[in-house]
Amino acid sequence: MEEISIGLLGLGTVGSGVVKIIENHQDKLIHQVGCPVKVKKILVKDLNKERAVQVEQARLTTNPDEVLNDPEIDVIIEVMGGIDETKKYLKQALLNRKNIVTANKDLMALHGAELLTIASENGCDLFYEASVAGGIPILRSLVDGLASDRITKMMGIVNGTTNFILTKMAKFGSAYEEALKEAQELGYAEADPTADVEGLDAARKMAILSTLGFSMKIDLDDVKVKGITGITENDLEYAKQLGYTMKLIGIAHREGEKVEISVQPTLLVESHPLASVQDEFNAVYVYGEAVGETMFYGPGAGSLPTATAVVSDLVGVMKNMRLGVTGKSAVIPQYKKLLKEPGE
Ligand code: NAP
Ligand code: HSE
Repeated sequence: MEEISIGLLGLGTVGSGVVKIIENHQDKLIHQVGCPVKVKKILVKDLNKERAVQVEQARLTTNPDEVLNDPEIDVIIEVMGGIDETKKYLKQALLNRKNIVTANKDLMALHGAELLTIASENGCDLFYEASVAGGIPILRSLVDGLASDRITKMMGIVNGTTNFILTKMAKFGSAYEEALKEAQELGYAEADPTADVEGLDAARKMAILSTLGFSMKIDLDDVKVKGITGITENDLEYAKQLGYTMKLIGIAHREGEKVEISVQPTLLVESHPLASVQDEFNAVYVYGEAVGETMFYGPGAGSLPTATAVVSDLVGVMKNMRLGVTGKSAVIPQYKKLLKEPGE
């Protein structure tokens, strides 16, 4: 391969980080994959918007077909968000035999199995590390690093926005609205932050973690969810006086074939390791029958941390392209198995 061409869907918080990393770490990418990597075309909504990264106007388009149908584009990176329209675009790209990297947990929690099947049928990779816990390589750790173990429980903080809000409210007595506004300005929150604050974003991430960790197809409707919208500065102050910290905690527990998943505000004693996870940081405990307890910690949201996961997935795809093994990733057979109905 002389060069790998990327089509980027979205140039917001994560998309800008992706462009920066591909440009600034070009030497590392060439070292990893043996040829230059270039973002050829970028789909946006508004051609005239001010961007956090400088790109030539000619690379921007509002026409998805210019990206999805371009025969020179090898890999599509989806960082635009959304569900129905985005699913349509990714299907179109896969049918055009383009590999995909996405950061979209909403899409993967709801339609991941279907998209992964289409990817595999078309000999394409579909990687989504950035969809859970931003810059922490948690999905690869579950699928590869802990591949030999039986995971029984996962527990942690998987939403950066709510952790940022709760941290600001507890530490500085900030009002909920003020802390949310700051999280939005820093690029941690979703375009519509309802999914963050109502716990749905964390529920989708717990469903993805459970699907991979427990090798089971998880129905999102089975996840019990409570967000943080009802929490006040006073609640956090009283908790503090009693020696507790409030965190939005996701728990997934497996016993035999039974799985229980919940997301809810939880009081933790201040000495609990998760109580010290501040701001937009995430942390996930994974308990395996053989390994025991492992903990993964790092930035759970934000431009460059999330883009690191996206571009690392891109490296994985490009290595598979070079070896001629795209569409054969270990993640896909797991999902194929999960597509079967219980009892099948
Ligand atoms: P964002 O800042 O709102 O950026 C979205 C980008 O997509 C914008 O450039 C927007 O174009 C473009 N876009 C959106 N809808 C479009 C449409 N219908 N047609 C064409 N372009 C469209 O979002 P983000 O924070 O980067 O998040 C992107 C994805 O990454 C989401 O799935 C999110 O859940 C996920 N994610 C985000 C983070 C994070 O920390 N932000 C972390 C992990 C995962 P304009 O710029 O022209 O408006
Ligand atoms: N809105 C998400 C969060 C972005 O705050 O965790 C990272 O997935």
